[in-house]
Amino acid sequence: MTFEQMWAELEPIGRGPDGGYRRFAWTGPELECRAWFLAQAAARGLDVEPDANGNLFAWWGGPGPDAVVTGSHLDSVPGGGAYDGPLGVVSALAAIDLLRERGVRPARPIGVAAFAEEEGARFGVACLGSRLLTGAIDPDRARGLRDAEGRRFGEVVAGHGLDPLALGRDDALLGRIGCFVELHVEQGRALDAPVGVAASIVPHGRWRFDFTGRGDHAGTTLLEDRCDPALPFAHTVLAARAAAERHGGVATVGRAEIVPGGVNAIPSAVTAWLDARGPAEPVVRSIVEDVGRAADRAATEHGVAVEWAEESYSAAVEFDAGLRDRLARLLDAQVLPTAAGHDAGVLAARVPTAMLFVRNPTGISHSPAEHADLADCLAGVAALAAVLEELAGT
Ligand code: GLV
Ligand code: MN
Ligand code: MN
Ligand code: MN
Repeated sequence: MTFEQMWAELEPIGRGPDGGYRRFAWTGPELECRAWFLAQAAARGLDVEPDANGNLFAWWGGPGPDAVVTGSHLDSVPGGGAYDGPLGVVSALAAIDLLRERGVRPARPIGVAAFAEEEGARFGVACLGSRLLTGAIDPDRARGLRDAEGRRFGEVVAGHGLDPLALGRDDALLGRIGCFVELHVEQGRALDAPVGVAASIVPHGRWRFDFTGRGDHAGTTLLEDRCDPALPFAHTVLAARAAAERHGGVATVGRAEIVPGGVNAIPSAVTAWLDARGPAEPVVRSIVEDVGRAADRAATEHGVAVEWAEESYSAAVEFDAGLRDRLARLLDAQVLPTAAGHDAGVLAARVPTAMLFVRNPTGISHSPAEHADLADCLAGVAALAAVLEELAGT
């Protein structure tokens, strides 16, 4: 099956009427994508091995050490694009097809991975599958993470055949991975060629703000009698923008829940999530401190309680310099940093890791408008095949 045929099969899964995807981990559309991946792997005679953390692996070549692993993720943000994640998985399968057509017989095993809950759209922590695999998150904490309906991660994955007590760092599997190369659509406006090589990922994280006020009637309650948590929430959103400008980073409040959510009711509570990123850790920390101070101040001013805390933090990642330079030379490709998080950034703490980016003509991502031209996707497949052949040896 060609890249185009695979893409045509996967593309409709979980796409909403506005073109945006909603493929949350272990919900219908994401399970359909997983089943699709397993069927594709089986059709190629790859050995499928789900790991203990909900990640899927498919192997070409018997289990051995020093494998070259590629892949990405199948889940999406709410309203996400088609390419973020699936492009890396489909390209991996297409690259294997290309190598086989050419009669390449790799000396090292080649693995294709589909990591679970990369976006953290359901349980709140990005790259949850790769964090568990590498030991970057305490399995106890992971088990207790709740989705928007209050269901615990541990219970949800138990319903899909995983043993919640077996979650966590998997040294046996990591020991088989000699290196990891993730192909991903570029998510900014930095790449001016079909394919590029990643240099680094900026530090970034997520913080949760809980404002608690007093619910009341929107008509009969005098302004001076209100404890309205929407007011400090609004201050906090503006403070995030100002702090990002002041310190030279970026900050976003992309998700909030207003409780109970009645047009004619003063809210009793607001929960909001801050995403902050910057070129260096002190920038990110300064942004968050400023936003936290602004939230505290505005909450006091409006008679509202606020608590805020870090939900996850990803330190700056520099990809393996040897791999990066080898890939850039092999592909004669531009090397560029990114401000987007990836499983590759998590894997990089444990195995030599690199990334390939495929051009995104507008740079738009985490949006239905995210796009990559077919010719660039095919150039990505060819580049990935060349990289796998180079790294796996023949
Ligand atoms: C993942 O795409 C992220 O950067 O949040
Ligand atoms: Mn993403
Ligand atoms: Mn992604
Ligand atoms: Mn005010």
